[in-house]
Amino acid sequence: MTGPERDTPGGVPGVSGGVHPAWLPPSAMRAVGRRRVQVHGDGPLVATVRAEVARARADHGGDGDGPPDLVLALAPAQPPDGFTVSRAAGVTTVAAGDGAGLLYGLFHVARLGEAAFGAPFPPRVHRPAYERRMVQHWDNVDVHPVMGQVERGYAGGSLFWHDGALRADLSRAAAYARLLASVGVNAVSVNNVNVHATEALLLTDRLGDVVTLADVLRPYGIRVHLSVSFAAPARDLGTADPLDPRVTAWWALATDRVYEAIPDFGGYVVKADSEGQPGPFAYGRSHADGANALAAALAPHGGVVHWRAFVYNHRQDWRDRGTDRARAAYDHFAPLDGQFLDNVVLQVKHGPVDFQVREPVSPVIAAMPGTRVAVELQATQEYTGQQRHVCHLGPMWREVLGFAPWGADGPAVAGVADGLVAVSNAGDDPFWTGHPLAQANLYAFGRLTWDPHLDPVAVLDEWIDLTFAPDTTADPALLRGTLHAVMDDSWRTYERYTAPLGVGFMVRPGDHYGPDVDGYEYTPWGTYHFADRDGVGVDRSTATGTGFAGQYPPAWSRVYGSPAECPDELLLFFHHVPYGHVLHDGTTVIQHIYDTHFAGAQEAERMRQRWAQLPAGLVDPAVAGRVAERLDEQVRSAREWRDQINTYFHRKSGVPDAHGRRIH
Ligand code: GCU
Repeated sequence: MTGPERDTPGGVPGVSGGVHPAWLPPSAMRAVGRRRVQVHGDGPLVATVRAEVARARADHGGDGDGPPDLVLALAPAQPPDGFTVSRAAGVTTVAAGDGAGLLYGLFHVARLGEAAFGAPFPPRVHRPAYERRMVQHWDNVDVHPVMGQVERGYAGGSLFWHDGALRADLSRAAAYARLLASVGVNAVSVNNVNVHATEALLLTDRLGDVVTLADVLRPYGIRVHLSVSFAAPARDLGTADPLDPRVTAWWALATDRVYEAIPDFGGYVVKADSEGQPGPFAYGRSHADGANALAAALAPHGGVVHWRAFVYNHRQDWRDRGTDRARAAYDHFAPLDGQFLDNVVLQVKHGPVDFQVREPVSPVIAAMPGTRVAVELQATQEYTGQQRHVCHLGPMWREVLGFAPWGADGPAVAGVADGLVAVSNAGDDPFWTGHPLAQANLYAFGRLTWDPHLDPVAVLDEWIDLTFAPDTTADPALLRGTLHAVMDDSWRTYERYTAPLGVGFMVRPGDHYGPDVDGYEYTPWGTYHFADRDGVGVDRSTATGTGFAGQYPPAWSRVYGSPAECPDELLLFFHHVPYGHVLHDGTTVIQHIYDTHFAGAQEAERMRQRWAQLPAGLVDPAVAGRVAERLDEQVRSAREWRDQINTYFHRKSGVPDAHGRRIH
């Protein structure tokens, strides 16, 4: 994957037992490593910068006497975590106010490559859009009997734990921290939001594990956060009532102990009253009461609580058409706006349901002007192909961040949010993410936390340049072109062969992979398509449906509430329409279903073909092989989706395909 240079001897994962270097192979640091570099300043992160420079020079031989080509220095009046980069008189200068900024500046120069050392350029100030840029792990310490070690993990085991214990060798966790820092991530929560018995002890009896992880991540400017159980005090007190003074004292003491051990601890992540996790409802208290109890304990130490808004009734009755999971987060949280302490961050999934390939943006984001809100994205591709399918999520995230809830004149989600969070897609797989091309999702997430306005295609270019070093290969244009052809539109391709027009959850219950159109339709988890012989979709309008459309500010509640105005791609999310309903492009709904499923499966075949046409040697053979194997599965799965969805709707509607293609 990296051209001629590789991180590990032999460099072929699975053959040599090596680990793929992701987007930081030695070649990524070549431009820096070939130069004379001076680093000025002190402190642990400056030491990391020095170590990075030394490593790059060792790899590329840039040493010797003479004036420096690159100066990295601490300097006053720089934004927190930010830096200023300039080039004049043959010297490139990075000035940062703190060590983290200097480290980010170094990786910025690495991304620029030779361009950082070409023509002079005036000072450019770079600063992150968000103070907290966070990756959350759904890692369990023990292997959970149903969910495995990493819940919804598609990349092997945990980077942190193995066999019920903290890994003795945490070198991969350190390498992971380096990868995250290089894209600007500065916070990691280390365990699953579903806090099981062993993991609940990380807060107390097993705090030592967290201390060690904090030590490993700290040199890269990453603060550790912990998912905790809301019921934790009940073990000692028999209650977790957030208004009981004994409970608040318990949290204060437990939190003081955490900070004694980890002075830069980031805070807690809490999934409460959600899918069986304990929460304040058991005590007749609100989520503001619950979140504030933990926030009060963290406040004296500067910590935050990420309180998740993913609260809905997972024991609903499918016969009851009035219950709508999409409404739940807003119904629970919007009335609480203004009641949360300052160090509570309400963590809201980007869509109102659950990381489906197509959802509207969650209305909660616009409904809480008096609350700090972080937008939660799912790098782990639970509902987007599970890292067996290529599904590049940068374009989807960019769309979410660019959505303007109050209409075109108002601010976009990127400006309303206080932070971004992604559920990690990394594990101990030699390629980190199972599918080597899924590394690009983690990369894109980090870059968007730094600048949510970045163009996803440009971000993909950066990732390609760093990871594959195309310019060192025999055919840079072919390599770049192939990767773009396979990845650029892969999110929409996945959407085409899976979920038409905003219908979600037609997946196999349990593992959520592959099609099962009625899999969830009559379960307590929610009902998602309501298909019958006449039509399909969920009526979420205010006039005749669940009223979900009314949770948006007027500009969008009007658009979403009207079948005529609703954007096609969300039509069935908001409306139940006849199969003959005509879309804006003139196609009927049923014909659209057929067309997109045929087209999507065909696109998957073309992706495989493009990849197969890459001449040997352009890409590391281990990478080429892993991608090829996954593309085989993607093609198989896409055909299965196509055939099941088309057949299902053909049988329901009785409407033939206008083009007479084979439907089973
Ligand atoms: C999804 C996912 C669960 C996860 C949950 C959450 O429903 O399937 O595994 O626990 O999201 O975000 O809490």
